[in-house]
Parts: sequence; structure tokens; C-alpha cells
Amino acid sequence: MSIRCHIVLMVSLWAGATTAAPLDYALPDAYSELRSSAGQEVGRTAAQGNCLTCHSTDYIAMQPPGKGKAFWDAEVTKMIKVYHAPIDEADGKAIAAYLADAY
Ligand code: HEC
Repeated sequence: MSIRCHIVLMVSLWAGATTAAPLDYALPDAYSELRSSAGQEVGRTAAQGNCLTCHSTDYIAMQPPGKGKAFWDAEVTKMIKVYHAPIDEADGKAIAAYLADAY
């Protein structure tokens, strides 16, 4: 960016700051928490406790919606087999069911 661009940007930012009215905008879902899903509290709790130790909810939330149980089963299995996530089978099944429902 040239110096001239910087000056134009600074002036426009300054002008914006002096005339700014309060903005009202919706924030996205909190990324530290997984979505709630009726009837899936067990799976959600297991996911909250097991799936956020290596990464945030982003990897889960960014998957295309409506992928279904088989997809989430495969994801959970991959986390366990490939990345050595210490999750037992019962928790893994509950997590996949919850994720299929909530995401
Ligand atoms: C032991 C660490 C670890 C745990 C625990 C873990 N993950 Fe992951 N996860 C990873 C790594 C590493 C990646 C790949 C990151 C990359 O490719 O940049 C990943 C990626 C993902 C992705 C992106 C798609 C993909 O397949 O790469 C999803 C979805 C995901 N994880 C879901 C989960 C879920 C659901 C759980 C809980 C069952 C979980 N993760 C637990 C390490 C973990």
C-alpha cells in the first residue's frame, strides 16, 4: 500500500470515528461452546469435554450442515485413530449422534 493510500485510509477512518453512530450487529455463536441440541445433552457434554482439547469448535462448526450420523461417526473415529484422541466407544457414539443432530 502506498503512503498516499495510507493517508486516505487514515483520513477516512478519522472521519468515520467522529461521525460514528452506535452500531448494532449480531455476533456469531460463541466459539468456545458447542451448540445445544434438545435431547442430546449426554453427547453434547461428552463433546464439550472431549472435542475441544486439541482445537476449538471451529473445525466442527465449519463443516457443511446436514452431513449426518455416518459422517460424524467417521470424524470421531478419525480423531481417535489418527490423532489419538482418548475417547471411549460409548462417548464416541453419543458425540456423533449429538453432532449429527446439532450440526
Ligand atoms: C488429540 C487431539 C484431537 C482431539 C481430542 C480431537 N481432534 Fe479433531 N482434529 C485434530 C487434528 C490434529 C485435526 C486436523 C487439523 C488439520 O488438519 O489442520 C482435527 C480436525 C478436525 C475436524 C476437521 C475435519 C478433519 O477431518 O480434519 C473436525 C470436524 C474435527 N477435528 C472434529 C473433532 C471432534 C468431533 C472431536 C471429538 C470427538 C475432535 N475433533 C477431537 C485433533 C483432535
